[in-house]
Amino acid sequence: MSEFALPVASTMICELLGVPHEDQDWLEEQSRRLLRGPLPDDGADARVQLEHYFDRLVDRKDAELGGGLLDAFVRRQVEGALDRGEVVGMAIVLLVAGHETTADMISLGTFALLQHSDLLEELLSDVGLFTTAVDELLRFLSVADGMLRVATESIDIAGQTIHPEEGVIFANSLINRDEGNYSDPDRLAWNRPTQNHLAFGHGIHQCLGQNLARAEMEIAFRSLFARLPGLRLAVPADRIPLKTGYTIQGVRSLPVTWSPPRP
Ligand code: HEM
Repeated sequence: MSEFALPVASTMICELLGVPHEDQDWLEEQSRRLLRGPLPDDGADARVQLEHYFDRLVDRKDAELGGGLLDAFVRRQVEGALDRGEVVGMAIVLLVAGHETTADMISLGTFALLQHSDLLEELLSDVGLFTTAVDELLRFLSVADGMLRVATESIDIAGQTIHPEEGVIFANSLINRDEGNYSDPDRLAWNRPTQNHLAFGHGIHQCLGQNLARAEMEIAFRSLFARLPGLRLAVPADRIPLKTGYTIQGVRSLPVTWSPPRP
């Protein structure tokens, strides 16, 4: 997580936004605090800190625009299409949404691949399979679980009525393992159609960064297994610490080792 998965996701989203490289560690820390504390006031405090940070950065961008996404937002602000609050708000959403989800998929995906050596071998001998494998891992792992919604109208479903204003939790991890949709859904497999999974949500709020995330995962897995031959867990699988109690699932750390390069 700390040496590979988070830096990949963090570098990518920071470069995309166009924030100074030296702020990356601080932004990663605020993103973590905003999502999962650990202190009760961390979330609100991180939000305020990020608002101040991006407000100041927008001032600097006003003076000299570059090529990042944030610069594009500022251009739209100058044209009157966005206000300052919207620019700052979107920067924070993109920063947070682009950080942990992708890092969790890279590390949990690596964990899953290391536990399925037959599938990993198949993948490494046919790199064309990576695209399918990424979507199957997204379905199988469903890291962004438990989407919260409020019903705006009465909905009849499976013999139940959900009334307006009632809260609904979408358990993506269960929906993505629905036996009505997937045969043998608890099995990781490269030979099933997986494009219709809900790992990125559904409808107008479906993940904006999904194709970037797919590309990041494919490049991360390909590079990792190519550059570190013989990659394997450094501790037994049941000693890998998992994140608990958060809506985004993942590992806290994933200690690995690999074979030394041949002389
Ligand atoms: C594997 C990595 C990722 C996963 C699993 C993931 C998952 C999700 C999910 C489940 C949603 C909610 C959809 C809904 O409410 O119906 C979402 C929304 C969003 N994601 Fe991602 N995401 C990932 C990576 C990214 C990246 C890299 C970015 C940024 C570049 C990003 C930007 C966003 C944004 C902006 C939204 C809000 C869209 C809206 O409300 O209209 N995500 N993502």
